[in-house]
Amino acid sequence: MTYEVDSGLSNFLGYYFALQVWANCQAERDSFRFELLSSYLKKTMITVSELTKRYARNTAVDHISFEVEKGQIVGFLGPNGAGKTTTMRMLTCFLPPTSGKATVAGFDVLEQPLEVKKRIGYLPEMPPLYPEMRTLEYLTFVGNLKGLSGAELRQRVETACERCAITDVKNKLLGKLSKGYRQRVGLAQALLHNPDVLILDEPTAGLDPKQINETRDLIKSLAGDHTIILSTHILSEVEQTCQQVIIINKGKLVATDSVNNLQSRARGAESVLVEIASRDGTLEAAAVRERLEKVAGVSRVTFKEARSSGATFEVENRKSSFVRGDLARAIVEAGWDLNELRPTAVSLEEIFLQLTREQSETPGGAEKTKGAAQ
Ligand SMILES: Nc1ncnc2c1ncn2[C@@H]1O[C@H](COP(=O)(O)OP(=O)(O)OP(=O)(O)O)[C@@H](O)[C@H]1O
Ligand SMILES: [Mg+2]
Repeated sequence: MTYEVDSGLSNFLGYYFALQVWANCQAERDSFRFELLSSYLKKTMITVSELTKRYARNTAVDHISFEVEKGQIVGFLGPNGAGKTTTMRMLTCFLPPTSGKATVAGFDVLEQPLEVKKRIGYLPEMPPLYPEMRTLEYLTFVGNLKGLSGAELRQRVETACERCAITDVKNKLLGKLSKGYRQRVGLAQALLHNPDVLILDEPTAGLDPKQINETRDLIKSLAGDHTIILSTHILSEVEQTCQQVIIINKGKLVATDSVNNLQSRARGAESVLVEIASRDGTLEAAAVRERLEKVAGVSRVTFKEARSSGATFEVENRKSSFVRGDLARAIVEAGWDLNELRPTAVSLEEIFLQLTREQSETPGGAEKTKGAAQ
């Protein structure tokens, strides 16, 4: 009897512990699956951590860190000599970092350069095109270098030519192509192996407005399937093309954020446009200015224009003052009609100048602004 009880108990304990072990394994598997799932959902394609490049006399890239999500187009901005090309050359394994780490699709640029190169297409500042080669010949040559051959290579060359609209110059010597076409051939070679990531160093530099539009449309059409980092000095291009912006200055990261967030952040000292009308049609600009400048937080009121519907004024606020409510109340209390009240859009150009100036003026300013950017 005792034996039976012990046997029952030991069986029970056996089952209990087996159940525990199974549950623990299950939990481990779940947590592993959860990690895989969350990294898949997060879809980070590029991670840069404290990346630094020092030359003998200067530090071209100084401890920059950022992440780029899969399928995004990121604008890489900075004045001349900021370190954009150097960063791009490190990401594409053309230049070893002095310190720090960068990964592309999870592969380390220093430790797994072949895996990185398989997944990356690079359009350098000056694409290395051989003037004595014809377009088709050159693309086939580059395709071979990238490990493509036979029907697949022919198909890829065909697709890249179509996407970059260079089919009509397939048989032309590269040396005889215009700057715009040379740039497109450069883009075609970057796209050839259908890489996950495209790194484009000033893809629209030197192009005419029509070519700029076409290249911009092409880049936009590549988003989603490809993750793209493009450097440019044309800020409107970034506003139109990119979801995210990375700004560097003198090798340091100044900001990394979405275009929208950067704009609203720069609106710390916000200005608003108000259109005001009076019921009897008589509205004196001086009276409006005087009344609105009394609103707490307002720093300056400027008359902009008079239209049949009313007069428009720009109201500038002191940093961090949000005066829209008080402004609307003051206008209505003065007996005027408030036809419109809207924040003025801050261009990326102004933000760029503001951020790069701040960094130049403030010692250690980069870290401060970077913190604010995230
Ligand atoms: N091979 C090199 N040896 C020494 N210094 C270099 C070298 N290449 C670049 N630099 C320096 O590194 C800094 C960053 O240069 P980089 O070409 O990355 O700037 P950039 O942001 O691409 O500028 P731009 O907008 O003019 O293309 C500059 O001060 C440049 O002089
Ligand atoms: Mg450059």
